[in-house]
Amino acid sequence: MTTVRDLQAMAGEEPITMLTAYDAATAEIVDESGVDVVLVGDSMGNAVLGHENTLPVTVDEVASHVGAVARGTEDALVVADMPFLSFGADESESVKNCGRMLKEEGANAVKLESGPHTIELTERLADLGIPVMAHLGLTPQSVNQTGYTQQADGREEAETILELAREHEAAGAFALVLEHVPANLAAQVTEAIDIPTIGIGAGGQCDGQVLVFTDVVGMAEQSPPFAEQFGDVRGEMREAVSEYVEAVESGSFPTAEHASRSEELDDLY
Ligand code: KIV
Ligand code: NA
Repeated sequence: MTTVRDLQAMAGEEPITMLTAYDAATAEIVDESGVDVVLVGDSMGNAVLGHENTLPVTVDEVASHVGAVARGTEDALVVADMPFLSFGADESESVKNCGRMLKEEGANAVKLESGPHTIELTERLADLGIPVMAHLGLTPQSVNQTGYTQQADGREEAETILELAREHEAAGAFALVLEHVPANLAAQVTEAIDIPTIGIGAGGQCDGQVLVFTDVVGMAEQSPPFAEQFGDVRGEMREAVSEYVEAVESGSFPTAEHASRSEELDDLY
């Protein structure tokens, strides 16, 4: 079983791999492929729940998917991505929502889209035994303020991110996701802090990389510009389902092999 300490030991030594999964079957594939961290991302909103963005995703939905992923995972670290407004407003509510992912669903850690409002909370959670992965740069739960464009192109915003990275490290975050920021900023943040940085659309100098499962396997209808498609699962699924429909409609499926007969029933009528 991978621990947050294992990940910290990997930083700067070998690349950390992280990928999302939302159900037990995919988690098994991701885990068996040697991925270090399985993130049950609130990207489930777009990826599998049919929403426009991540904002409608609920704590119950994340919890249900975390349970499934944890049951399908043996080796990888399972991280529960806390959804919009489930943390950061009220401390005891935040602790309850985060704690549930470990206590009831089998997660090993939580991820919080970070900002000034998560520094104290990160410390509180870490004190309670809930490892926190921070997340800076593009934080899609703030889409109404930022859109989905690259963040921190300017000096002031870049300095804010660097400062927040330091503050979350000091508060006890065990790792930091950097999303859609300039590669040279991600490189400097990686240099400035000791905890591992895991990049998405943030260049090749982070300690690790993360992408969304449906983007990687080619199942997503739309992917962000920084994603890479390594397969054509959507095409394969379409082909298999079309062949099934054709087989039933043409009568070539099922055949005698797909069911058995009971001799006792032959003369029922
Ligand atoms: O929800 C998600 O999948 C994420 C990753 C893209 C970092 O937050
Ligand atoms: Na997310």
